[in-house]
Amino acid sequence: QTLVILYGGRSAEREVSVLSAESVISAVNYDKFTVKTFFISKNGDFIKTQEFTATPSADERLMTNETLTTAQIVSPASIYEKNAVVFPVLHGPMGEDGSIQGFLEILKMPYIGPNITHASVTMDKIMTKHVFTSVNIPQVPYVALTDLAKIDEKMAEVTENLTYPVFVKPANMGSSVGISKVETASELRAAIDEAIKFDSRILIEQGVNAREIEVAVLGNNDVQTTMSGEVVKDVAFYDYKSKYIDNQITMAIPAEIPENVAEKMRKFAETAYRAVAGTGLSRCDFFMTADEQIYLNEINAIPGFTQFSMYPLLWENMGLAYSDLIEKLVELAFE
Ligand code: DAL
Ligand code: MG
Repeated sequence: QTLVILYGGRSAEREVSVLSAESVISAVNYDKFTVKTFFISKNGDFIKTQEFTATPSADERLMTNETLTTAQIVSPASIYEKNAVVFPVLHGPMGEDGSIQGFLEILKMPYIGPNITHASVTMDKIMTKHVFTSVNIPQVPYVALTDLAKIDEKMAEVTENLTYPVFVKPANMGSSVGISKVETASELRAAIDEAIKFDSRILIEQGVNAREIEVAVLGNNDVQTTMSGEVVKDVAFYDYKSKYIDNQITMAIPAEIPENVAEKMRKFAETAYRAVAGTGLSRCDFFMTADEQIYLNEINAIPGFTQFSMYPLLWENMGLAYSDLIEKLVELAFE
């Protein structure tokens, strides 16, 4: 069977996408799959890259902007192949937001991961809040700015309802891009202006002093969750660079948290996943405060997927190895 891997992409998270795709091509069971890869460039061009029929050598790198010329651009529809399955190993806008998923639906190609609804709802931080609220998932207090004519009004609402520090986030971005931590009211306006560069809808969230605990979810109708893992940070607030490029992050799996809290998180993870019409996979990121309050922060519909990423490691801890996880995801694509 052909596995078509899409990687790179237009979003700011293209670098982690390339790393995830490289992990996938080196772990696929080549007795069952032939792999074809397509690089999506920063400006959205599809470029046919390598094909693999056997495990590549450890130093094999997928081609990216640095190693390609524009002459190899193909039509996006040329990824079509009868009976193939697609793994869009893409993060952020135009990859994890339903757009690629809609395109694959039109092509009538089975694909791994979130469907259109699951991807689009979870990519929008404000929409996510609304859906979580509807199924009583605990969340940190927030103010949503959805009308740029009302910035002053919303800033007053922040002062009234939230306490500093707050986080200001574009509604539709991933991986800390455009996000600011704001310590005092005087810095709020500048942070909003920064976020507006990336989206016209802005979320302002109460900062909480908390540990970051994550749960992996897998499945379509039959939904399974993992024991949790903790992101142990070296830096107070980690940005894109520290998160993915410098690897200044370590993980504790399983997270050392009370059993009843862990169980509650798994239940919230499943409820939230079903509420966003989850299919395939997701990583649910929670906050846990010192007094064991938990809040669901977000759902990542296509979580970082390198061999060293939290999502695959959470499953490995449950006894599901990385290459078996990929096969399970392929099975789910056909359900
Ligand atoms: N959005 C990135 C890839 C993650 O959460 O893993
Ligand atoms: Mg996240």
